Amino acid sequence: MSQETDQEGASLIELQEIDQKHHIHPFTAASALRQAPPFLIDGASGCYVSGQGIKLLDMMAGLGCVNVGYGRKEMVNTAAEAMQALSYYHSFSAVSNPTAAALSGLIANLAPEGMNRVFFANSGSEANETVLKLIRYYWRSKGKPEKKIILTRDYAYHGSTLATTALNGNPAMLEPYGLETETGIERVRAPYWYRQGGSDTPEQHWKKAAQDIEDKIIELGAENVAAMFVEPIQATMGAIIPPEGYLPEVERICRKYNVLLVADEVVTGLGRTGHWFAQETFGFKADIMTLAKGLSSGYVPISAVVLHDDIASVVEDGENIFQHGFTTSAHPVMAAVALRNIDILMKEGLVDRVRTDIGPYFAKKLASLADLPLVGEVRTCGLIAGIELVSDKTTRAQYPIEAGICSHVSQAALLRGVIVRPTGNNIVLCPPFIVTHKEIDAAVDVLAEALTEIENAIKAS
Ligand SMILES: Cc1ncc(COP(=O)(O)O)c(C=O)c1O
Repeated sequence: MSQETDQEGASLIELQEIDQKHHIHPFTAASALRQAPPFLIDGASGCYVSGQGIKLLDMMAGLGCVNVGYGRKEMVNTAAEAMQALSYYHSFSAVSNPTAAALSGLIANLAPEGMNRVFFANSGSEANETVLKLIRYYWRSKGKPEKKIILTRDYAYHGSTLATTALNGNPAMLEPYGLETETGIERVRAPYWYRQGGSDTPEQHWKKAAQDIEDKIIELGAENVAAMFVEPIQATMGAIIPPEGYLPEVERICRKYNVLLVADEVVTGLGRTGHWFAQETFGFKADIMTLAKGLSSGYVPISAVVLHDDIASVVEDGENIFQHGFTTSAHPVMAAVALRNIDILMKEGLVDRVRTDIGPYFAKKLASLADLPLVGEVRTCGLIAGIELVSDKTTRAQYPIEAGICSHVSQAALLRGVIVRPTGNNIVLCPPFIVTHKEIDAAVDVLAEALTEIENAIKAS
């Protein structure tokens, strides 16, 4: 190791320089990092992160994952004890470990009825990638190898591997890899009335969005369509919350045409919507679901694919071997941390708190922003929210994305000590489940100031 990369005793400025020189950041314009060094976060507690002498209220829980809050001693101790007991062993063949075994049982107990089989991976992307392979395997095992096409929606985000990227709805993520026209993936409309509803009523819009799915299956031939992926709430692209009735209708269509329904609960799973799973919140049942972020509250990388018995029984039939797995699938330390995380959620009643107390308060406070001129719509469900910015409330016209209005608003909030996430023309909030009423008040006050500042700057320009 060269002297330059030896971290021992390196100053903050040196570390920033090292980072600028050597670290490739995900989803980041290199030009931005050339202009300004990265902000180094080196501590976190509760709902706050800190670094370079600055403390910030993190209304994004990292990337929507730190549900039990940062820096919890129980989590740290559990990780240390688990690592001491069994630092690693794989789960290939017929080997398991106590924490992975217990975690699979606990997930099966919590999951919607009939979802009893669990496969472990390390990230949301890996979990969804696993599902893509499982789906192929399932239909081949059923003697229908031609059932291969996957339906996904505009505004979807399902991951960053090559195959899961192809499922995403944001053209900017597809184009650099030539995935816009990937065969075997078909896109349908999202239930996003605010942006795509035109002159339809919200109800007309979601019914058309659901009808799109049925039309697409008929067009492609149900015998060729393997599965439909849905994020119950399309989180990354602006917290698009489905209207009541939409997801049950999607389920009805999938069942009618023998198309598997996959619920990507990477964000919504483990309590974000006020129930353990968003399938309960929105009244639908999937055949397969994926979990990640909230499974360990981001303390360690772990994800899970949860299969309904009907799917698992085919995949595991006879002498079948599921030719898939990762070196660190069912890692004993990761599983121990996930168990402790769920234990905290249960003991502290955090999922109930999201549904009955802090979630409704969050919705009420954020709704007060709706009167501001820049705000077109405020959407909330449990502890996730999207604030849709507009140039004209009546026509729902938006500012050009290139104008970066949302980035300016989030930057103005950051300068006042609050982290929110700009995405397209939306500001997304996704705070830890332990967020207090006072912290919500402070964040909403800051957002009101930030929105007003940018509104004034637009007027003055
Ligand atoms: C709904 C959804 N699915 C999958 C992923 C991918 O998860 P990961 O970043 O852990 O690979 C994300 C990440 O934001 C997500 O929001």
